[in-house]
Amino acid sequence: MQVIRSLSALRAWRTEQPDVGLVPTMGNLHEGHIELVRVARRHGETVATTIFVNPTQFGPNEDFAAYPRTLDADLEQLERAGNNMVFVPDVESMYPDGPTQTRVLPGPLANELCGAHRPGHFDGVLTVVSKLFHLVQPRFACFGRKDFQQLTLIRQMVRDLNFPVEIVPVPIVRANDGLALSSRNIYLGADERARALALPRTLQWLAETLRAAPDDVARIEAQALDRLRAAGFVPDYVSVRTEPNLVSAQHARGALIVLAAARMGKTRLIDNLCFELPA
Ligand code: PAJ
Repeated sequence: MQVIRSLSALRAWRTEQPDVGLVPTMGNLHEGHIELVRVARRHGETVATTIFVNPTQFGPNEDFAAYPRTLDADLEQLERAGNNMVFVPDVESMYPDGPTQTRVLPGPLANELCGAHRPGHFDGVLTVVSKLFHLVQPRFACFGRKDFQQLTLIRQMVRDLNFPVEIVPVPIVRANDGLALSSRNIYLGADERARALALPRTLQWLAETLRAAPDDVARIEAQALDRLRAAGFVPDYVSVRTEPNLVSAQHARGALIVLAAARMGKTRLIDNLCFELPA
């Protein structure tokens, strides 16, 4: 597996590849990330993973400095998964003049859900993803459904700006007990880790409860927030939306997704669950 650190070496590498599949990450890899690599491998093309903790998508009071950086272990996992090339730029190479003057401006969905609690986050994500698309020029790129709002905004960017990149969504990988894998789970103490299970369980509860009362979306969302609070979470939101476009659902009909974000101590977790109700 090749490890490339500079933009010039990446460009030279790219000219020698036919089609490339891209897996963008911020490192501290777990089975969720590795599943993206496996899905990319199935397409039979060269797989390029990027590891870059992107400063421009973190707010001033967020965990950019503390974000776990575990490059040696990451490289071992990628090698084992059959990844072909990993691009590990430093901040200086990606942002030689500081944060870019030119940025990708997402639509109004970027101000809802996680965007309402992380101002500017999705501008940073879309800008770095478009830089990575230009640098790596992939034929396709894999993104996890765990970050469903991010996936939706990236699909919208690709459509709006005519990126010649196919977006391949990958299902959420969970621990045996149901908690979605996340690089941030390592922040959780043992007690917090146990209580965090309330997040996936509340989403399950909400989907089942809505089935019996599909017109009571707002009331059931409020009850879900209470369940999270009872488990020790400070929730940011629980929201039932249409799948895949994330339009607010007043009445639960057809293909739906419930998304949630909540803080357990200092750790902010997100999760979502897709479900289908009669049209
Ligand atoms: P990061 O949080 O490292 O996630 C990288 C990719 O792994 C994303 O597409 C994310 O949805 C996916 N992923 C994470 N946990 C997952 C899980 N449990 N199951 C399935 N997929 C999972 O998302 C980012 O990095 C950044 O915003 C990035 C897109 C790299 C831009 O900086």
